[in-house]
Amino acid sequence: MGLKSSSERYGTMIVAMHWLTALLMIGLFATGFRAANTADPAAKAAILRIHVPIAVAVITLTLLRIGWWWGVDRKPGPIAGSPRWQEHTARAIHILFYVFIIGMTASGIGMIALSGAAPIIFGGEGALLPDFWKYPPRVPHGFGARLLLAFIALHASAALYHQFIRRDHLLRRMWFSR
Ligand code: HEM
Repeated sequence: MGLKSSSERYGTMIVAMHWLTALLMIGLFATGFRAANTADPAAKAAILRIHVPIAVAVITLTLLRIGWWWGVDRKPGPIAGSPRWQEHTARAIHILFYVFIIGMTASGIGMIALSGAAPIIFGGEGALLPDFWKYPPRVPHGFGARLLLAFIALHASAALYHQFIRRDHLLRRMWFSR
């Protein structure tokens, strides 16, 4: 299995980026919802000190992934016997993932920039954290997170449907092999 994808399966580079992003996204949702539901400002700042660097890692991986598809690699062909509407839906959801991750990052940066919370979160300033709901990017950040979760659920269900109902070993395409 090479670094690049073949017509049959994804290459090592994409497989590594895919599963690393999936792991980091679990961390992002866990810390994001935890921060939003924590009233104590010091505890919230401590959670955001984890949330923001994970988000930076996710956006970096996403931009790398876009660059990789753009300039280096080509996607494997469609799965044999898969209806065209499923291929189109899968493609649309994959593009939406990129759009949502970029949008979530932009709204997150917007919240921190407009509220001036960076020195409080990262600089150890004893000041109280602002109420992020006072800043417009907070709304798309919360709404986008829930929509993104719904798309992730759809994406994972489709993969499990292929793996266990159609039994076409779809997951093998997105895993490491010799
Ligand atoms: C892919 C990127 C990101 C995802 C998936 C994500 C996910 C989340 C989630 C699920 C929440 C809870 C939302 C709610 O309960 O309504 C949240 C809250 C938050 N996120 Fe993000 N986030 C991302 C990027 C960022 C970035 C880049 C920043 C800052 C630079 C950021 C700053 C925040 C802040 C400050 C909150 C807490 C808001 C509050 O306490 O009211 N996020 N995020």
